[in-house]
Amino acid sequence: MRNVIVTGGSRGIGLAIARRLAASGEYNVIAVARRESEELAAAVREAQRRLHFRACDLAVTNAIPAFAKSLRDEFGAIYGLVNNAGVGPDGLLATMHNSDIEALIRLNVLSPMILTKYVARHMMADGAGRIVNISSIVASTGHSG
Ligand SMILES: NC(=O)c1ccc[n+]([C@@H]2O[C@H](COP(=O)([O-])OP(=O)(O)OC[C@H]3O[C@@H](n4cnc5c(N)ncnc54)[C@H](OP(=O)(O)O)[C@@H]3O)[C@@H](O)[C@H]2O)c1
Repeated sequence: MRNVIVTGGSRGIGLAIARRLAASGEYNVIAVARRESEELAAAVREAQRRLHFRACDLAVTNAIPAFAKSLRDEFGAIYGLVNNAGVGPDGLLATMHNSDIEALIRLNVLSPMILTKYVARHMMADGAGRIVNISSIVASTGHSG
């Protein structure tokens, strides 16, 4: 069965993706978030060993290489990566603290790039892989503020 990592898989869109992939019977899904939600724990129980939770704070980008290696060591070849974890802040850029801008870019941009780097290396060696990046409709429409 092909392994797929879904970041931000503990709730919302990521949990829906993780559930759907696990229910297809074709994928073994590793949902990544900082904490396992009750919803995800219930989905893991229902998924008959096709859905797993592994904790990682993806904003700590220095920890990503070892985390990616640990998933490969534990589960084997990673076929799919869904970069879904992210935050959508309220408010205006003009009034955001610079530290909040840095934290936002770290989680939404830098972290998926670094995770992709370490997962894609193995996909290249394995000769197969799929990477999906979740963005926002705002990326194509623009957004006030
Ligand atoms: N929902 C929308 O209308 C919408 C619109 C545009 C774009 N998007 C994008 O779609 C994606 C999913 O949105 P959503 O609404 O489903 O989000 P959500 O319900 O807020 O869930 C976010 C997920 O990301 C995880 N996460 C947050 N910070 C993390 C960190 N530092 N390390 C690891 N995991 C982290 C959360 O788990 P923990 O908190 O436990 O870590 C959770 O599983 C996001 O990238 C979002 O920007 C959503």
